[in-house]
Amino acid sequence: MNIYDTHYIEQLFDEMSQTYDRVNNLSSFGFSERWRKQFVKSVHIRPGMTVCDLMCGMGECWPALAPLLGSQGQVMALDMSQGMLNGAERRKSRFPDLNIQLLKQDVLESTLPDACADALICSFGLKTLTDAQKEQLAAEIKRLLKPQGTFALVEISVPGGWIFKNLYMFYLQRLIPIIGRLLLGNPDNYRMLGIYTEQFGDCRGMMTALANQGLQVEYHQYFYGCATGISGMKL
Ligand SMILES: C[S@@+](CC[C@H](N)C(=O)[O-])C[C@H]1O[C@@H](n2cnc3c(N)ncnc32)[C@H](O)[C@@H]1O
Repeated sequence: MNIYDTHYIEQLFDEMSQTYDRVNNLSSFGFSERWRKQFVKSVHIRPGMTVCDLMCGMGECWPALAPLLGSQGQVMALDMSQGMLNGAERRKSRFPDLNIQLLKQDVLESTLPDACADALICSFGLKTLTDAQKEQLAAEIKRLLKPQGTFALVEISVPGGWIFKNLYMFYLQRLIPIIGRLLLGNPDNYRMLGIYTEQFGDCRGMMTALANQGLQVEYHQYFYGCATGISGMKL
């Protein structure tokens, strides 16, 4: 089994979409929401912008995005899991002022036109990418952004320091699957998130891929490195 196979990942999130929202809210103790707010802030969104939300899931970033974008803003939200997009469709009704376009697409080969976005965000979708796919995504980010366009990405990461790292990995690999089971999800699926995170490490690899594309990058750590992120600009 190749856990980085696109169809495998699509099926994984289709299955998790039944419980993702509840497990995410309960298991992160509000941290993931806080990190979304912080990383969206780092993109410097202004009213009326067009924003690409890559690997949008169920639109978890929109509560942070909507107040910054205002009523003239537009969001092009991409995800390849129909289950997650169904959740996004439901959430969309909470933002009647925002023009949100949902697209079922692989972000590595989207049909979006060149230079279509003023800004681009991507939350918690990097861990299921291989190194080669990170390079592909970096090239796509460069292609989609307008000149002076800004971007930010965030992902759950492995923190430094032996004790903290082991406690956090115990939480990701052991406790989250239990919470998943309690909320009637498949614990094996939630166990996979810990496995992906351990392999992923942190956002430094993605940052190098973005810098290799000539993009301006800045590295961020959230809560002692339990999540890391990159913000930047296309010059
Ligand atoms: C952990 S969820 C994150 C969802 C949301 N952004 C959030 O903040 O919670 C990762 C999402 O990335 C999507 N995804 C993973 N690889 C993808 C790809 N190559 N193209 C499009 N979507 C992808 C999955 O379907 C899933 O909805």
